[in-house]
Amino acid sequence: MASPVLFRQLSPPSPPARIVALVSGSGTNLQALLDAGADPAYGAAVVAVGADRPGILALKRAEDAGLPTFVLRIADFPDRTAWDRALRDEVAKHSPDLVVSAGYMKLLGQDFLEAFGGRTVNTHPALLPSFPGMHGARDALAYGVKITGCTLFAVAAGVDDGPIIAQEAVPVLEGDDEDKLHERIKNVERRMLVHQVGRMAREGWTIHTDRKVTIP
Ligand code: GRF
Repeated sequence: MASPVLFRQLSPPSPPARIVALVSGSGTNLQALLDAGADPAYGAAVVAVGADRPGILALKRAEDAGLPTFVLRIADFPDRTAWDRALRDEVAKHSPDLVVSAGYMKLLGQDFLEAFGGRTVNTHPALLPSFPGMHGARDALAYGVKITGCTLFAVAAGVDDGPIIAQEAVPVLEGDDEDKLHERIKNVERRMLVHQVGRMAREGWTIHTDRKVTIP
């Protein structure tokens, strides 16, 4: 018997599915989604991009694509809860079917996840639950693993925690440093993100209470 359902999203009646992307850095994951969404057959399109800081390349990519952007810095709010609520409200303005944390380096809070939990996904440059946190590639290298990789997961309240949607392996090579390894992981990560987000958008998805994610 199938396990009970925590969250279910059916395929959208009128594609493309709307994506709000959250970014903090160079935005190569965002760019991969923008490129994929240019083809109507992909079934999903980024409609807005939010950042936790100004002046980043990811925002420039969004502006170049003609998308609305917003920046919410934690430092501009009295506390994290106020920031989290403002982020929720800003994202809600764009009525997303899916929120993609595409290299977004902030932990989403309770209010945000009450509104968008189940439809918020994140990528991490390691094979979770190993090496969560800010430095997935560096930590895997320092530990001496021979295989690492990347993980796409449905965001839950903890650091890099949540039901796993997909993972891909990347071997650690002789002579790797953090940058070389992270770059190789990011190549795989972008492909995985585009592939899985497209599937989710076109077919819908279900998150079960036992952490399993099925598409459809
Ligand atoms: C990705 O490896 C992501 O998993 C990590 O930071 C990187 C972001 O890259 N959190 P980009 O900004 O999409 O180029």
